[in-house]
Amino acid sequence: MTRDSVQGTLPKASVAESLAVLNDVFVPNVAKGVLIRRPKVVGMAERLGLDRRAVHRLQQLNEKYGSGPLMLQVPGEKTMALVLDPAHVNRILEQSPEPFATAEQAKRSALEHFEPDMALVSHGSERAERRRFNEAVLQSECPVHGLGERFVKVAKEEADELLHTTRQRGDSLDWDTFFETWSRVVRRVVLGDTARDDHALTETLGKLRAAGNWGFMHPGRHHLRDALHERLCIYLKRAEPGSLAAEVARVPTNDITQPEHQVPQWLFAFDPAGMATFRTLALLAAHPEHARRAREEAANLEQHPTPELPYLRACVLESLRLWPTTPMVLRQSTETTLWENGAMPSDTSLLILAPYFHRDDRHLASANRFDPDLWLQPEGTGTWPLIPFSGGTGICPGRRLVLLVTSTVLARLLSHREFRLDPPSRLLSSKPMPPLLNNYDLKFTLGGY
Ligand code: HEM
Repeated sequence: MTRDSVQGTLPKASVAESLAVLNDVFVPNVAKGVLIRRPKVVGMAERLGLDRRAVHRLQQLNEKYGSGPLMLQVPGEKTMALVLDPAHVNRILEQSPEPFATAEQAKRSALEHFEPDMALVSHGSERAERRRFNEAVLQSECPVHGLGERFVKVAKEEADELLHTTRQRGDSLDWDTFFETWSRVVRRVVLGDTARDDHALTETLGKLRAAGNWGFMHPGRHHLRDALHERLCIYLKRAEPGSLAAEVARVPTNDITQPEHQVPQWLFAFDPAGMATFRTLALLAAHPEHARRAREEAANLEQHPTPELPYLRACVLESLRLWPTTPMVLRQSTETTLWENGAMPSDTSLLILAPYFHRDDRHLASANRFDPDLWLQPEGTGTWPLIPFSGGTGICPGRRLVLLVTSTVLARLLSHREFRLDPPSRLLSSKPMPPLLNNYDLKFTLGGY
């Protein structure tokens, strides 16, 4: 696009409309907790249908102003724009980090609390090196990570132990019990078996994430941050075989890489994977026909050291489409950018609200249905942005690893027991899938096959 082909100015929302976006989109998402969820607020957001309100607000603005990007009038110096058009999403994600930097201001002020030198909040040559390192350790382009066999073994062992615990607890499963297991899987995969019961590490990170939820409004917990990094360095030095820490030792690094700033991201980003797994259990409990297909596939778990499990992966992806765990994907422009209908100033924060695209019932027939087949089409067949893992050059480098671990845990659980929602009316296939599913209050009763 050249300056000559650009006509007019970008549409601008009124002050009242801009405040309505702050109120319906930013306030609920920030209140739910950007880096670590506040379960009570998540419950309230579910009851009040706040996520639907956010999608409706953007649809209204799209109908009034067209494809945008729509400039918002926000208090202070900041310039912000809403991305409303699928082609614009694809462009922004493809053209990251120049001219659309991943290191957006709000994201930086949140992550600075414990990983100021993480790839996502770095720019230029620093970002390039740290992104390279993340891709190398997480083997982001390999269908199955080189340590996949080991990760599958860990996932199976912990799932078995969870099944054992549920039997002792009267065949019932709640979030806290599930999350204990999940955190063990995560620590073993990332740091090794010696970290299995290092709850203190998860707690320390939890406190720093809670501070990060407040962004620049929190003064920071510097001692705690140093303590976290020291603890992580011990594990990284140990480089336990079969863990990502061992990969860190194998992959070349330099003064810029700062592995101990990358590792907290891996640990904390595994949390949403646990949320997605638990919600997938709920989706399958509510959709017996899909559960049957998932169980049939789960039988493959015993036949291969790293089974593919495409259907279960698609179910997890569906859970992430319906209830994305990173609902706000943010970028910041590094120069003046040109759009069909105007120029956008440098330093504008661009908001891509994933649910606006994922749940757009004007364009997607299964916007509000559980439809794993959406993810079983050959790759690259659709251009509609379904972006639970972001997309383009900044796509989550952990996505394949996440899908390996989540699908394995689900396969192990489903091949041994039947999971029924308690009460069964908590989620019903006869109704549209709700705008949000509070994972913290989901409960299951386990039956035998
Ligand atoms: C369900 C689980 C997960 C989801 C939904 C998810 C989603 C995302 C998204 C949306 C981004 C881009 C954020 C942005 O552009 O601001 C991202 C970045 C990232 N994710 Fe994940 N993620 C998950 C789990 C993981 C795990 C387990 C790891 C590592 C083991 C990981 C590693 C990373 C890294 C290193 C980045 C930064 C990439 C960069 O700097 O370009 N993620 N993830």
